[in-house]
Amino acid sequence: MTNKPKDWVFLDPRLKKMRQDYDAYTEEDFKVWKILFERQIVNLPKAASKAYLDGIKEINFTADRIADFADVNQRLAKSTGWAIHVVPGLIDDDLFFGLMNNKRFCSSTWMRSMEQLDYLEEPDMFHDAFAHMPMLTNQPYVDFLENLSGIALRFIDDKWAIELLSRIYWFTIEFGLIREEGELKIYGAGILSSAGETKFSLSSEPKHYEYNVRKILNTPFWKDKFQDKYFVIESYEQLFQSLPEIEEVLEEMVSEAAKG
Ligand SMILES: [Fe+2]
Repeated sequence: MTNKPKDWVFLDPRLKKMRQDYDAYTEEDFKVWKILFERQIVNLPKAASKAYLDGIKEINFTADRIADFADVNQRLAKSTGWAIHVVPGLIDDDLFFGLMNNKRFCSSTWMRSMEQLDYLEEPDMFHDAFAHMPMLTNQPYVDFLENLSGIALRFIDDKWAIELLSRIYWFTIEFGLIREEGELKIYGAGILSSAGETKFSLSSEPKHYEYNVRKILNTPFWKDKFQDKYFVIESYEQLFQSLPEIEEVLEEMVSEAAKG
């Protein structure tokens, strides 16, 4: 991996060139976006991180308009230089990390149906857009994402290493909390797109741990119910600054596993 040019991913034949077909969205799609948007936006001023709240303004999402990626890309270009790359759904790990290592965030374009409002097996564009994209305006956050992906690419042939790194991704990008002026706030997209987990994650029911690389790397997660623990960062710089430690502990755990 290390000898490849950084932008190898754009030449990979597995990478499909897809675009968002905005005109294909139906009335139901717009309705679903509006219901989910309105239901969640009222919870966020008290619950979400300042970075997210600033980001959703900067990226200009509203209840009446499904996110338009062409517009999002223009705004991100001026902000952090990131862009959205449309994917058909889940893609191979090396492509996923290869794209993020080149400042491209993967997003699907399909919208859940009315019957699926609260439960999804795979992330749809409400999750990918509403919950993830505002955070892409935050520089230390995207720098963390880009470089975490660089680490993942160095370990891409080692399944165990990727499993461990997915724990970091999970407990930060998807389910991370941050302390702001003494209060817990949400920046994890998996929480931000769920009204139920927004309330639950900030309650006294789950455990809240300080951000700890070694502990996260040793913590398996599940996808089919609320987490029972969340990790709390102090700043997005803290994430970025933890990258050398992530790499170091990962190397240690991978070589221990190799010894058996
Ligand atoms: Fe996500």
